[in-house]
Amino acid sequence: MRHQMEKCRQGTLQMFANIDYATLSAWPHPDFSPIGWHLGHIGYTEALWLWEKCAGMPPLFPENRQFWAADGLPKERRRKLPTLPEILEYLELVRSKVFFYLERAPFEEQERLWWFLLQHESQHCETIALVLAMQQLADGPELLEGERSTVKLSVPEALEIPAGEFSMGCDSINAMDNERSPHRVYLETYFIESLPVSCAEYHRFMEALGYSDRRWWSPLGWEWLQANPVDAPLYWRSELARSDRPVCGVSWYEAEAYCNFAGKRLPTEAEWEKAASWDPATGTKRTYPWGEAEPDANNCNCDRAFGGTTAAGSFPQGASAYGCQDMLGNVWEWTASWFDGYQGFEFFPYRGYSQAYFDGKHRVLKGGSWTTRPWAMRCSFRNWYYPGAREIFAGFRCAL
Ligand code: AVJ
Ligand code: FE
Repeated sequence: MRHQMEKCRQGTLQMFANIDYATLSAWPHPDFSPIGWHLGHIGYTEALWLWEKCAGMPPLFPENRQFWAADGLPKERRRKLPTLPEILEYLELVRSKVFFYLERAPFEEQERLWWFLLQHESQHCETIALVLAMQQLADGPELLEGERSTVKLSVPEALEIPAGEFSMGCDSINAMDNERSPHRVYLETYFIESLPVSCAEYHRFMEALGYSDRRWWSPLGWEWLQANPVDAPLYWRSELARSDRPVCGVSWYEAEAYCNFAGKRLPTEAEWEKAASWDPATGTKRTYPWGEAEPDANNCNCDRAFGGTTAAGSFPQGASAYGCQDMLGNVWEWTASWFDGYQGFEFFPYRGYSQAYFDGKHRVLKGGSWTTRPWAMRCSFRNWYYPGAREIFAGFRCAL
């Protein structure tokens, strides 16, 4: 456990290697806190759950709790940050305390919390990457990601998933509260595409003036578009028109409009998860589409291993039993489903992690992006955002 925590932290700190105070405290988007806040909040959360709640020790810096808590201050007041060395010192102190505790207390009683914290840090890493990308966009265009524009234009195949039951969700020790508990779900036969929608495919929608054609947009989608008059995905550049990298930086409404244009639809969360994880030959569920081996650069694009998105279909070894590729990593994929709790849901470790978002206003995303840390990536992992969010590294795949 200690080793995993250290490995995760190493990657977190790497992102801060060349960060000046202006970048640490920059606030390029009202919905996302400055990256320095996320860093301190990672340490605060670790101290709160392991040191205070689990070990029963008094808060380390009671005067700073409100600053680092998710429900503490409005985001605009999160800019007056300590310096990077000060935040790093705080993280170090928290680490020494929680590792001290780990060596003394019965591990089984805290294990689920450690897995939660590992994934909590992982998810904040992704948000840090998002804020950095938005800041780059504000500083000047075209800084994003190393060029790798292979123009091989792989065409997605529509794969038939025969009717039947599969097991949805997960209850291994690292499973988040919203993944529990596994349950059988029956689905009629459906088709899902082998690859996420590429920039080249999406460009056909743009060229057909899809952004000004009301036919493709749902009433809510059209309303969103009027309030947010865009005509391309966030981070779009003209070269992408011929790229087979997956489209990235679209809201759920744009995904919906594209599907209507193409005569297709978004998969439900269950359809996505069955196609990713079910092995019909053995009637068993896989943790990852390819099986049980941990995610790495051979089976998917995650943990910023390639500096950006990669051409869809670059990891055939990572295919699912049904033949879906790029299910994990590269871009998050919007699904048609609202975020909700499974039957018998019990929050862990606090109501505000998942349950506060069971409000019929958040859509589920599956799979993970090129920045997702491996600890927060598996077929059953669920992410959620408002359908209008386009700052996240999200694309989508079509079903029929
Ligand atoms: C599930 C990614 C939307 O970042 O707001 C982090 C994860 N929850 N700290 C977020 C989360 C509490 C959450 N998302
Ligand atoms: Fe958090």
